[in-house]
Amino acid sequence: MNKIGFGTFGSDHCTATEIAAAVEGALHCGYRFFDCASVYGNEAEIGAVFEKALNEGIVKREELFVTSKVWNDMQGKGDILLSCAKTLHDLRLDYIDCFFVHWPFPNYHAPHAAGDSRNPDSKPWSATHFMQVWRQMERLQTMGLARTIGMSNMTVKKLKEVLPQCTIKPAFIEMELHPAFQQPELFEYCIKQGIEVIGYCPMGSPNRPERDKAPGDVIDTQMPEVEAIAKAHNIHPSMVCLKWAVQHGHIPIPFSLSPAHYKANLECVNTDPLTDAEMAMLAKADKNCRLVKGQVFLWPGAKDWKELWD
Ligand SMILES: NC(=O)c1ccc[n+]([C@@H]2O[C@H](COP(=O)([O-])OP(=O)(O)OC[C@H]3O[C@@H](n4cnc5c(N)ncnc54)[C@H](OP(=O)(O)O)[C@@H]3O)[C@@H](O)[C@H]2O)c1
Repeated sequence: MNKIGFGTFGSDHCTATEIAAAVEGALHCGYRFFDCASVYGNEAEIGAVFEKALNEGIVKREELFVTSKVWNDMQGKGDILLSCAKTLHDLRLDYIDCFFVHWPFPNYHAPHAAGDSRNPDSKPWSATHFMQVWRQMERLQTMGLARTIGMSNMTVKKLKEVLPQCTIKPAFIEMELHPAFQQPELFEYCIKQGIEVIGYCPMGSPNRPERDKAPGDVIDTQMPEVEAIAKAHNIHPSMVCLKWAVQHGHIPIPFSLSPAHYKANLECVNTDPLTDAEMAMLAKADKNCRLVKGQVFLWPGAKDWKELWD
């Protein structure tokens, strides 16, 4: 597995074809880990790229590490298997390297829903419901359809409730991680449990959907500490975020449509590391600024997006 992966969420402004082209370019320049999800709406296009690369011998299946995620509207009984089967069909793979529960709620929203919209069927977190989903996930691993299984968008409180009930523990936890949002308690908890951490929005997701932007959000690449370190290394502030991620001990999954950017992103984590003093400066720079707040998953009557995060 590479030290970094390749994100495939095109926000609201990139087409599936553009993303598949970026995946193809990234494969050719050496990326082997691709973070997919059914809700990104581009697995069929990405699958065509994988199939071509495998057929042409550009990469062997065992060299690839492909993840996907079940979307919230497919958490019912029997639906996890259906979701995984559809993903495997679209990605044109026989197995997935890690299959995630994308969000720990069945709550979902229509595509491009406004941030303040509420689905009347949405419900607060339920460990009972989550474990019913997780039992189906465990079956996918037992059946060999998923090599490993993982959870995403969890909290320490939720993990403490469900981990003791798991027959198969998650091999990976995917969470939002960037210099302005370091989630130290959750990160340390995962490491102590022997769970590997994958960090999303590693550069602060500058092109995330408008519904995920709020006044007061910190822009990582404009943080004075990040800018000062970028200047000292003569690199773009985005690279500081990626170097920080890898040296911090997790796997970032940056997205880019630009060949120059994704090539530089892959290369930068192998050269010119940040110093201990720079890492210490960034540790202190944490702003506890969550960007993907998940407000569209709130249930009627919930007051604030923070209720999703305990
Ligand atoms: N599990 C979850 O719930 C969840 C939630 C959100 C995201 N994710 C995953 O995490 C991945 C990454 O998150 P993200 O895409 O939101 O945010 P991100 O990777 O932090 O930011 C991506 C943006 O940064 C720009 N960029 C990339 N490299 C750059 C460089 N070297 N210099 C300047 N700009 C650069 C890209 O623009 P250009 O195209 O111009 O390079 C792109 O728009 C997603 O694609 C998805 O796979 C998972």
